[in-house]
Amino acid sequence: MKNRNAVLIFVLFISLTVFASKKSEDEKIEKILSQMTIEEKVGQMNQQNFNALDDNLINQLKNGQIGSLLNISDKTAIDKIQRIAKTESRLGIPLIMGRDVIHGFKTIFPIPLGQAASFNPSIVESGARIAAIEASSAGINWTFTPMLDISRDARWGRIAESLGEDTYLASILGAAMVKGFQTNDLSNPTSIASCVKHFVGYGAAEGGRDYNSTNIPPYLMRNVYLPTFEASIKVGAATVMTSFNDNDGIPSSGNKYLLRNILRDEWKFDGFVVSDWGSMEEMITHGFAKDRKQVAQLSANAGLDMEMQSGTYMENLPQLVKEGKVSVKVINDAVRNILRIKFRLGLFDKNYTEKNVPSEFYSPDHLLMAKKAAVQSAILLKNDNNTLPLKKGLKVAIIGPLADAPHDQLGTWVLDAEKSHTITPLKALQTDYPDVQYVYEPALAFSRDLNKEHFSKAVIAAQKSDVAIVFLGEESILSGEAHSLSNINLIGVQSELLEAVKSVGKPVVLVIIAGRPLTIERDLKNADAVLYIFHPGKMGGPAIMDLIFGKENPSGKLPVTFVREVGQIPMYYNHNNTGRPAIGRVTRLNEIPVEAIQHSLGNTSFYLDSGNEPLYPFGYGLSYSRFEYSNLSLSAQQIKMGDSITIRATLRNNSDVDGTEVAQLYVQDIVGSIIRPVKELKGFRRVLLKANESKVIEFVLSANDLAFWGLDRTLKAESGDFNVWIGGSSVAPLKATFTLIP
Ligand code: GLC
Repeated sequence: MKNRNAVLIFVLFISLTVFASKKSEDEKIEKILSQMTIEEKVGQMNQQNFNALDDNLINQLKNGQIGSLLNISDKTAIDKIQRIAKTESRLGIPLIMGRDVIHGFKTIFPIPLGQAASFNPSIVESGARIAAIEASSAGINWTFTPMLDISRDARWGRIAESLGEDTYLASILGAAMVKGFQTNDLSNPTSIASCVKHFVGYGAAEGGRDYNSTNIPPYLMRNVYLPTFEASIKVGAATVMTSFNDNDGIPSSGNKYLLRNILRDEWKFDGFVVSDWGSMEEMITHGFAKDRKQVAQLSANAGLDMEMQSGTYMENLPQLVKEGKVSVKVINDAVRNILRIKFRLGLFDKNYTEKNVPSEFYSPDHLLMAKKAAVQSAILLKNDNNTLPLKKGLKVAIIGPLADAPHDQLGTWVLDAEKSHTITPLKALQTDYPDVQYVYEPALAFSRDLNKEHFSKAVIAAQKSDVAIVFLGEESILSGEAHSLSNINLIGVQSELLEAVKSVGKPVVLVIIAGRPLTIERDLKNADAVLYIFHPGKMGGPAIMDLIFGKENPSGKLPVTFVREVGQIPMYYNHNNTGRPAIGRVTRLNEIPVEAIQHSLGNTSFYLDSGNEPLYPFGYGLSYSRFEYSNLSLSAQQIKMGDSITIRATLRNNSDVDGTEVAQLYVQDIVGSIIRPVKELKGFRRVLLKANESKVIEFVLSANDLAFWGLDRTLKAESGDFNVWIGGSSVAPLKATFTLIP
């Protein structure tokens, strides 16, 4: 009885504390709001791109016309700006300073797609934490990330910034990033506000062409594209950024259903919403608004709190309020949301010293974590005859344009780091493996280089060596924003270079450093081993060399499907079954008899030329260890709504090499009120196994984990039969079935 009372008192205390702090927060907001003129309120809704600390900017600051700046990362300038805003404007409201700190500020981590390949929330959180520590030391208190756009299209350049094709994985990793940036206290000096983007559906751009329209129907929106945002908002994401795209004819920046019904009414989001760069003004180009005044009216009424750089609010909102086209309440609510985050960040309390605070950039522990992230982001796709890891004593040829490319190795969205700090694979070999005899021949100056005149040098280098390591892939500019590709083969003449090196007859290790999954089927015949790493950041070189020489054992898994041909896109693992799935082997083009009869090839869903399977499936990745799954068991054959079921299996490392396996749990709801995918990831875990060690791994599934947005447009699990699989990829063989009863 005593314990029960103690718990009740504790809960009561916490509730009162939360209530009291919210009350005081609201009181602070209302106190300032009550003093503000309409111009000062609109000033808070105005974010400007920083150009220079000139008289014009200083006057705007003094007049309270700017609520935020983006693209400034100089501590001295930021301190000056904040001092002016706090001490020389009428109400002393500080600015929130935004920056794209996407995968590191100075210490650059792998691009988000690479981080996703680690299937490791804790390392993703650590990367965000380190980025926040470094960025906050420069006066930045808001980052425009995590990007939570689900992407099933490797033609889309921004797949590089995404966390891949799977909603469950991206939800968990996105939330980990939010926690890393924000900690559990936004007022912490090293906490910076996160910004979940791009709300919503941006990754479904038609044709993989950036900024293009999307056509996401309601069920897909609810079950695939919205959940990643909801998961991050549940852990306290401070801000949301609207996307450029229109979905089914409505641009996100003017989509009231998204910004008010879902974000505010359903999810109770209490941060603020910012537009993306020109996404508001572009509603004119979209054909959704006739002029800048209507842009401001539609956006404000839709619930868009802060305008990024296009200035339509400053120009039009006071007049729109006068005309009654935008209510004072709409303005007040927007300003409340902005002030709320500024208070939570502690911006009103922080002092601003006009001198550069010494920052611990590139500290050893930051570099160590960046290397760990890069190691865990690498995916071993092929390893014939155990070519890898390389044995000591071998003479090595280091070939290709990505072997020593300090700028490109960092990947997209690197605004504040210096390439001079990048450690490339060549540099890592030279410093960390001084005993290894090597010869280096890039043969190509950069990935798009078409000049083959140095191929002969690469061939000679391979002839002089026992093994060739060929570094190919993409320059960083070839992925990221506005960089879509309609052909995703290895660009230029890189495949020819690989073929020339392979013709020497020595073992070839292909290392691909890229911002997206490339179509590499044609290259596999010319490589005995393939290690794939999405732009690995600053410490990519040491990570790659430690993996190649066996100091590290690959553990990365594909966060996105690798297609055989670009024409297979979109192809992803959690697809619907269709009425005619092509199961098993299908007839391929060169097997079709001449004058074959109309229906002789089977009327099912596949390509005559590239079949019905990807090159590598979601969740796939090899190791130097040999992992085997067995003894799948269920704690029950049937469970009731509200119950849970435990799924177990034995995982054995049947090798003499310690290794980490990402064990994955997939579930299929066999019959639903709307069709459910053939399988969905519902659990994953990194499991370290010593040589010849076995462990029983288990996943606990609750009925809630089986919930989806069904025909009645509510989120709930439906009774019926479910398949479950456990394995090392989405084609896991171990399967069992259970039933969920009402
Ligand atoms: C860009 C991007 C967005 C970024 C913003 C600020 O256009 O779409 O992701 O955060 O502008 O740089």
